[in-house]
Amino acid sequence: MIAMSTELFQFAPGREGYYGEFGGAFVPEILHETLAELRAAFDDARNDPAFWREYVDVMVTYSCRPTPVTYCENLTRLLGGARIYVKREDLNHTGAHKVNNVMGQGLLVRRMGKRRVIAETGAGQHGVATATMAARLGLACTIYMGEDDIARQRPNVFWMEQLGADVVAVTDGTRTLKDAINACLRDWAESMADTHYVLGTVCGPHPFPRMVTYFQSIIGQEARAQMLRITGALPRRVYACVGGGSNASGIFAGFLDDASVELVGVEAGGKGVDTEQHAARLAGGRGCPGVAQGYKSVFLQNHEGLMHDTCSVAAGLDYIGVGPILAHLHAQGRVRFEAATDAEVVEALRLVIRREGLLPALESAHAFVTALKEAPHLSGADAILVNQSGRADKDIFTVAEALGDERWKRFLREKAAR
Ligand SMILES: Cc1ncc(COP(=O)(O)O)c(C=O)c1O
Repeated sequence: MIAMSTELFQFAPGREGYYGEFGGAFVPEILHETLAELRAAFDDARNDPAFWREYVDVMVTYSCRPTPVTYCENLTRLLGGARIYVKREDLNHTGAHKVNNVMGQGLLVRRMGKRRVIAETGAGQHGVATATMAARLGLACTIYMGEDDIARQRPNVFWMEQLGADVVAVTDGTRTLKDAINACLRDWAESMADTHYVLGTVCGPHPFPRMVTYFQSIIGQEARAQMLRITGALPRRVYACVGGGSNASGIFAGFLDDASVELVGVEAGGKGVDTEQHAARLAGGRGCPGVAQGYKSVFLQNHEGLMHDTCSVAAGLDYIGVGPILAHLHAQGRVRFEAATDAEVVEALRLVIRREGLLPALESAHAFVTALKEAPHLSGADAILVNQSGRADKDIFTVAEALGDERWKRFLREKAAR
C-alpha cells in the first residue's frame, strides 16, 4: 500500500498557501468562504488515514493502479546512453493521469455533501475524467471547454456527453483553457452552495495546488518504489511535460527529497520559444510573475499584465500559467525547465510509437523529446524515467494530420461524404 503523505510542503508562518513568492488565493470576496470550507474539508480528509486508504482502494479497483513502469529496451539500444524507463499513466481508466486527481476530489465532494461538480478542460482528458467520476458517484456535472479545444478534441467531447455531462463551449478570448477556467470561476461564484469546482491541475487559488499535488503524488510514490525494485537505484533524471503542472508535480513529489534525482519539466515550445507562438513560461524565461485566475505564479503576459496568446500542438499544454509550486521549485533550482517544439514532438512521437509500440499523448511526447535528446549524454549506469501522462487516442485527428497520413485523410473524406 502506498503510504499517505500528509505534508508535502510546509507553509512559512502567516504565509499559508504560499510557496516562496507564489501561490495564494486571489478570488472575489464571495468565494473566500467556499475556499475556507474546502480547505477545512481537505485538511480533515488529509488527516484521516481512512480517507487515503479509500482513495488508494478506488484507484486500485477502478483505475488500474499501480500503473507499471516499462523499460524501453529498443530506444535505449538505439540511443546508446541512459536506460530509459516509462511510468505508464496512460494505462489509467479514461487514459491519463487526470483521473487520479478527479477521483480524489470526487471522494472529497461526497464527504462535503455537495451534489454538483463543474470543471474546465483543455485537451478534454480532465473533462472526461470528471464526467466519469460524476457518473460513478451520482453527481450532476457541467464541463466548460474553449470552442477551439472542442474542435481539436471532439472524441473527448463525445464521451463527456455520453457520460451525462453538460459540455459548455466557451467563445470568449482565445477559446482555449484559460477562457474555460474564467467561465468555470464565474459559474462557481453563483453556484457554490451545492457545487464543487474540480480544478484539473495544480493551479488556481489555495488549496487547489496543494490538493491536486496531494492526489497526484500517488504517481511519484509508486514510481520511486518501482524504480528501486526494478533497477536497484533511484533514476538519475525524471522527465514530465508541464501544462498547469499536475502530472509533473505528481511524479516529482515522489523524488523531491532525493537530491541525486534531477527533475526536468518540459513545456510546449510550439513553433519555437523565440516566436510568439508557444506556451513556455519558465523555459527560456519568457514568463513573468503575476496574478491571474486566482493565484500568483509565472504567466506569459506583457508588462501591463495582459495575457499573451499561447500555442501548442498539444491542447493540454496550451496554457498561460504554471502551478505555483513548480514556479517556486524552478526559482529554487530544484526543477529544470526545457521546451519542446511541435515539430520535435511529432518526431519523438513517431520514434516512440515505432520503436516501443507505446502511444503517448501529444502532451506526454514533450517529455520524451527532452529525455531522448539527453539520454545519449548519460551512461548506461544511469536510468532515466519519463512520465507518459496519457495515451494518444484523443489526438488521432491532430497526429494523423501532423504525420500527413494520407490513408486517414481519405477515410475522413469518405466518412464525411457518406
Ligand atoms: C495527457 C495529458 N498530459 C498532460 C496534460 C497537462 O496537464 P498537467 O500539466 O496538469 O499534467 C494534460 C492536460 O490535459 C493531458 O491531457
